[in-house]
Amino acid sequence: MNANLQAKLTPFNQQHLLSFWDRLDDAERKNLAAQIERLDFAAINQLYRGRNESGDFRELANRAAPPPAFRLDNSGLKTGLGPFCAQHPPGLSGKMDPTPFSRAETALRAGEVGTILVAGGQGTRLGFDHPKGMYAIGPVSRRTLFQIHVEKIVAAARCYGVKIPLYLMTSPATHEETIAFFREHKNFGLPDEDLTIFRQGTMPAVEEATGKVLLEAPGRIALSPDGHGGMLSAMDREGVLDDIERRGLKHLFYFQVDNPLVDICGREFLGYHLLAGSELSTQVICKRDPLERVGNVVEVDGRLMVIEYSDLPDDVARRRNADGSLTIWAGSIAVHLFSAAMLRRLSRNADALPFHVARKKVAYLDDLGNLIEPAVPNAIKFERFIFDLLPSAANAIVVEIDPHEGFGPVKNAPGSASDTPEIAQRMMIAQHRRWLEQAGAQVAENIPVEISPLYALDAEELARKLPRGTRLEQATYFA
Ligand code: UTP
Repeated sequence: MNANLQAKLTPFNQQHLLSFWDRLDDAERKNLAAQIERLDFAAINQLYRGRNESGDFRELANRAAPPPAFRLDNSGLKTGLGPFCAQHPPGLSGKMDPTPFSRAETALRAGEVGTILVAGGQGTRLGFDHPKGMYAIGPVSRRTLFQIHVEKIVAAARCYGVKIPLYLMTSPATHEETIAFFREHKNFGLPDEDLTIFRQGTMPAVEEATGKVLLEAPGRIALSPDGHGGMLSAMDREGVLDDIERRGLKHLFYFQVDNPLVDICGREFLGYHLLAGSELSTQVICKRDPLERVGNVVEVDGRLMVIEYSDLPDDVARRRNADGSLTIWAGSIAVHLFSAAMLRRLSRNADALPFHVARKKVAYLDDLGNLIEPAVPNAIKFERFIFDLLPSAANAIVVEIDPHEGFGPVKNAPGSASDTPEIAQRMMIAQHRRWLEQAGAQVAENIPVEISPLYALDAEELARKLPRGTRLEQATYFA
């Protein structure tokens, strides 16, 4: 038995982690010892003890006001109430210079913009055996999520004549396969020096009833990624913030791997961000259902923040204004712009991102070494959420988008009721059909169409490129 490890574990009553030590071979022992060495058991105990003290969300929700919001309508002008959302407070109309497009283009052409893609999640709901980014989503092309995202970045870099680096976050669950996949596909055209793949941290799962850290195998602790908010400390630890500084990047466009519709580095969004002098700008949609499973962006005491759907009491979520629209209307779609300076500043503030508690089913070894697959949640996982940066950001703004133009989440397995690959594909087809028809093409009913960003990044570029009199009679992919 390893005395040093015993000594580390005993004060925190976690000695069970060595129960199977005698059965382990050298490599397994080394591995387990390294896992134990890396864990901060005092902090884990403290998180466990505070598991039920996540704050009074009812009280918070009662003080929450709907946030003022800009609305993307592709006009470059802020309009208070637009066509695609029920009514809500008119936002910031008229307060800004109406030139977001040109302001954004200046920043893009100056090479001030980089991108962050978080792809460390385990993607359990989708039920796909590889990193989610490897899921073939292109309705005609079968391109993967990774390819679609990277092509948008490559096309934008070409369009503005600059380098647009991608910082891609993985986790131990997705790292090796993601690296191999990018290598195999020559980064989908992104130069090596513009791609940084970095790994986020992990947290152990603890048994809810006892606070004991769970083993998933005799020589292995049950670890899982520490949430997309783990991005900040990982960027610091892995030298990503240094690289951002070295390159002189000032703004980072953040997006998630599971949204093929995301408009990466879209000019109108970036323009509002810049004109507002915002350190953090966040995209929202008007919630379609009061209990929709998205974070709720609200304003409390003059500061923006997100209340998770699971924390918002149902009756508050269902509140409506006199005109029937939802009071808490702004659903976060996890598309943000961060200022590089803010990321650096908050990376040094240990309290900027608290851990949230999630109760989950986690398979574990019992005292006898049997692997137990629980039928009900038995464990607590600790995760950080990146949107918790919002209250700490100066001049943060909310920008409402039309979900048809930027939000098609791939969360659930094919055939589920919502957020499936099929629904996202239908949205992709519908968007590209709209672009084609706006550009004057005739598109037969019920055929799938798809446009690579390398052919046209947006409707405008398509209209410039598409030959006059284009008629499409069968499935077509513009590459
Ligand atoms: P989700 O919250 O949808 O989680 O992640 P998930 O792991 O992908 O899917 P489920 O819940 O297991 O089905 C939203 C985004 O945040 C990233 C995911 O890769 C996805 O892009 N993410 C999530 C991380 O990068 N790290 C994490 O620890 C969690």
